[in-house]
Amino acid sequence: MHTLNVALTGVTGYIGSHIAIALAEHGHWVVGFDNFANSSPAVLDRVATICDTSMPFAELDLADTDAIASFLVTNKVDAVIHLAGLKSVAESVAEPLRYYETNVAGSVSLLKAMEQANVHGIVFSSSATVYDPNQTSPLGEDAVIGPINPYGHTKIMVEQIINNAAAASSLKGINLRYFNPVGAHPSALIGEDPVGTPNNLMPYVMQVAVGMRDEVSIYGDDYATPDGTGVRDYIHVCDLADGHVAAVNALAKISTSDTINLGTGVGSSVREVIAAAERAADRDIPHRVVKRRPGDADMSYADPSRAEHRLGWKAQRTLADACVDHWRWQDQNPHGYTTS
Ligand code: WQD
Repeated sequence: MHTLNVALTGVTGYIGSHIAIALAEHGHWVVGFDNFANSSPAVLDRVATICDTSMPFAELDLADTDAIASFLVTNKVDAVIHLAGLKSVAESVAEPLRYYETNVAGSVSLLKAMEQANVHGIVFSSSATVYDPNQTSPLGEDAVIGPINPYGHTKIMVEQIINNAAAASSLKGINLRYFNPVGAHPSALIGEDPVGTPNNLMPYVMQVAVGMRDEVSIYGDDYATPDGTGVRDYIHVCDLADGHVAAVNALAKISTSDTINLGTGVGSSVREVIAAAERAADRDIPHRVVKRRPGDADMSYADPSRAEHRLGWKAQRTLADACVDHWRWQDQNPHGYTTS
């Protein structure tokens, strides 16, 4: 496998930092940029410690088309993995224009910069929130598309922009639809560090476990699921990162674009997540059932077969593995990247 020069947008984020390490471990040369809107510069030193080398980095915003183009040319980039974007469902409902500007207009700016720099490969961070939540799982890539919030709409729009641009030019693109990323690198040097109150289940559970919060609110226990609580497909962030390495390697083999789920194919309920976290942290994690959160689906988990057939990738780690790694990160970094 020849090595590639890969640029990561949003490289200091939760997903981006783990992908940087996975790419380096597979022999690729990694460069990246970020505007630190939702991440910490401290991540760069942590990644450098793990990889034993510092990556070429620039503080850039997706709107800086010309600056991105020269960064890509300077670093002789072969392909881009596009992670930079806003990702809170609730925030996207409150501030839709900001989400369309950053996630959609920002992606168009990036694609124009790639055109200027003659970079013809992109792997895009899409999401399972593009799927209509009122359908049964497992969800294949041909499941009904029906986002119910601006965040999900931005993701399907960028997928379509990439598909159309690839059909009209020499661009090749792979849209990866993430299910629910959890866990952390086993070194505990990098991990999920949400700004403010976590919207997602796992970081909230782990902040309760480490004593930063009082109890987990279970958003409803009357769903059509085995124990009544919501079921999701929790994929270890290191498996997710390996999926991106497989995708960037696959760009050379596709003609225009493809869309692939990254999930485990296993559904786990809220109660099962809490129980797995209690085993990992070796303590009780207080929790209480409250009313449903609007818009939540009963069940959502992937049919991951296309990833296995087309990328030769399959998740290797379990929910228990993710809880052990997530707990190690939380326990050793109770305040995330900010020093206490
Ligand atoms: C998981 C389950 C909740 C918090 C979201 C985004 C999606 C993706 C992943 C970016 C549900 C329940 C949650 C809590 C709870 N992000 N829950 N108490 O909603 O499946 O997906 O994150 O791509 O785009 O939509 O993940 O972690 O918010 O919820 O009971 O404090 O946990 O009801 O059943 P979700 P989540």
